[in-house]
Amino acid sequence: MDFDDSDAVRGAQIPKVARGFQLHPGARTFWLTGLSGAGKSTLASGVITSLREDGVGAYSLDGDIMRSGLCKDLGFSPEARSENIRRIAEVAKLLNHAGLIVIVAAISPLESDRAQARSIVGEDRFFEIYVKADLNTCIGRDPKGLYARALKGEISNFTGISAAYDPPKAPALVIETGKTSLIDSLAQFKSFLMSHTANL
Ligand code: ADX
Repeated sequence: MDFDDSDAVRGAQIPKVARGFQLHPGARTFWLTGLSGAGKSTLASGVITSLREDGVGAYSLDGDIMRSGLCKDLGFSPEARSENIRRIAEVAKLLNHAGLIVIVAAISPLESDRAQARSIVGEDRFFEIYVKADLNTCIGRDPKGLYARALKGEISNFTGISAAYDPPKAPALVIETGKTSLIDSLAQFKSFLMSHTANL
């Protein structure tokens, strides 16, 4: 990607195409939930890149990145995850109000936490998207080697192994990354997002 190298933005990694992007009063939050390794971050960053190339203001809130900063103090107990999701939802709400489309990529394993996120962001602005891949597929991918460690008992409370994941009961969209190519999954997601964002 082509980055602006002026002093003002050096270090901020602002792609040139993001300058002058459109803000949207009807900006929504597209909340990706699914197991670790299901493909949430890949889908989020792919669609964000594509939206920015189109000049659309959009931002992703990724669990791993949020946990390296704003949510650094939180672990993986049910209470800590609940607080993690609450904070991410509050940030998503603010960004929506600023006119940015938000894509959240967080396991968000519990139905109750996702319901809380929906009520924070606002019922009419929140779309739950299930990034679905079965546990064996995610174990096979294991991009960070975490499943191997969790299966050996080296990581506790690991979603799908030693902590629960509640599949969404009525997601607005299901993307089956074990059965659909990345290109098709991205196209499916982007098309859903465009058709659920007013005046885009
Ligand atoms: S959430 O459950 O609170 O929504 P979040 O999406 O922020 O989780 O963070 C998940 C990421 O943290 C995983 O992709 C993985 O890299 C890392 N991780 C570390 N420990 C765990 C664990 N016990 N369970 C799940 N993910 C973990």
